[in-house]
Amino acid sequence: MVCLGNICRSPMAEGILSFKIKHRNLAMEVDSAGTGNFHVGEHPDSRAIATAKKFGVDISKLVARQFVPNDFSSFDWILVMDSSNAANVLQLASSEEDKNKVKMFLEFSNRKDKDVPDPWFGNNDGFTEVFKMLEVACDGFLDNYTNLK
Ligand code: 4NP
Repeated sequence: MVCLGNICRSPMAEGILSFKIKHRNLAMEVDSAGTGNFHVGEHPDSRAIATAKKFGVDISKLVARQFVPNDFSSFDWILVMDSSNAANVLQLASSEEDKNKVKMFLEFSNRKDKDVPDPWFGNNDGFTEVFKMLEVACDGFLDNYTNLK
């Protein structure tokens, strides 16, 4: 799961997907990262932690890190929160195989707009709205990932 700061959208997405992986008894690893480095080492934004907690998901212990080219080797899918994150990670891809791993995460929902809005500048309602759209996309991903390759 990749966003810009790795403190709002992608940690919520990681927490939700982790929760659902356990619930579905799947053996799948999930991690998150930011394309930027300005929040590396920080826990998620307090509004993201509080929103996830409200829905029973604990993301308080996650720690932000920056996306690295080696993530293309470590993971089967690179799920990006918006088109700007997509452009940033695609610049670090070194093969067509790498590029094919990059998917807009909201492709797994039926929302028309495929960018997850950045809730950073908004209020708690923005975080709740983002949480709900991420939850739908997590279910869409888990229902469909076997057809992806
Ligand atoms: P995220 O949100 O990419 O969802 O983690 C942001 C967090 C911080 C900043 C931008 C987006 N920032 O500019 O510091």
